[in-house]
Amino acid sequence: MTKTILLTGGTGYIGSHTYVELIEAGFDVVILDDFSNSDSSVLQRLGQITGENRVTFYEGSVLDQTLLSSVFAEHKFEAVMHFAALKSIGESVAKPIDYLETNISGLIVLLQAMKAAGVARLVFSSSATVYGDSDIMPIPETAGLKFKNPYAFTKVVSEQILDQAASSYPWSFGVLRYFNPAGAHPSGLIGEDPSDIPNNLIPYISKVATGELEWLNVFGDDYDTKDGTGERDYIHVCDLARGHVLSLKHLIATQACHVVNLGTGHAYSVMEIISAYSKACGQELSYKIASRRHGDVALCVADTTKAKDILGFEAQLDLDEICRSSWSWIQNKSNM
Ligand code: WQD
Repeated sequence: MTKTILLTGGTGYIGSHTYVELIEAGFDVVILDDFSNSDSSVLQRLGQITGENRVTFYEGSVLDQTLLSSVFAEHKFEAVMHFAALKSIGESVAKPIDYLETNISGLIVLLQAMKAAGVARLVFSSSATVYGDSDIMPIPETAGLKFKNPYAFTKVVSEQILDQAASSYPWSFGVLRYFNPAGAHPSGLIGEDPSDIPNNLIPYISKVATGELEWLNVFGDDYDTKDGTGERDYIHVCDLARGHVLSLKHLIATQACHVVNLGTGHAYSVMEIISAYSKACGQELSYKIASRRHGDVALCVADTTKAKDILGFEAQLDLDEICRSSWSWIQNKSNM
């Protein structure tokens, strides 16, 4: 009997790539999304990549209890993967209540619907942002949790909700702390598609490469790093999606809750990213050194030991493939 998985936020950047990995791993998949940060055309492109002639999809929010009840009544889910959340640090500072409602209330409504339907397995999208400015580097999962902005607060609180709920029902939670997701599916049909001016480095650089933006502001070159610019652990989104499938399989096989970092264990500076993206797009990219961005840390890199030990996960795709696949997606997107 094929196992069916519900993906909330399944047309978004990480969700859509995880959809492809799940189908290729032999699961049936149902998507729930309200398109608040994605485009409905993703559904047709997911069908193209996987050969599914129809993607099973429901439009709506995880906050809609009635909709959730009807979706859970329609399908017998083996597990849920919860991607539906708001994820911009800057936006969370401007709209904290929206972030609390969507990210925290949304999780609670989802857990209530899951329990009512007898679905006990959940893979949860968390983020390295829960570590704040960790003084332990590379960062292990045992590092203290801090929040420096409303977005990070919602992720810390969500993880604590899962922790508090775990013993009240036969829940099995896989909490995945993403470092810096980047890149795109090799087909060039799906990728990061921010609706407004991107906050993150690689989507921003891609807009410099297309000429939509004139130059990249490098937020500080006086950090205590290899070249003074911020260093981060960029993980290819396809590696990240594969990590989700490994987490799901671990929950199915063991019922054991786990919290793991999904990163590569290697950090690249902003200047190294500019150089790698210039190579991928075949042009020198303009940049200016600007002042540090409030809330940024100098270095953030994952300790990947636990993900390897528990899930057998290791990132396989390198920075060149991140930049190559990103640029290929950006070029295809302009023709869509
Ligand atoms: C990376 C580096 C910047 C833009 C955040 C969240 C994290 C996750 C990923 C959700 C830093 C520098 C950036 C620019 C720059 N999101 N930079 N110019 O801040 O590490 O992580 O996004 O889960 O939770 O914290 O990612 O891509 O914004 O920045 O110089 O225009 O690039 O200073 O050193 P960040 P980022």
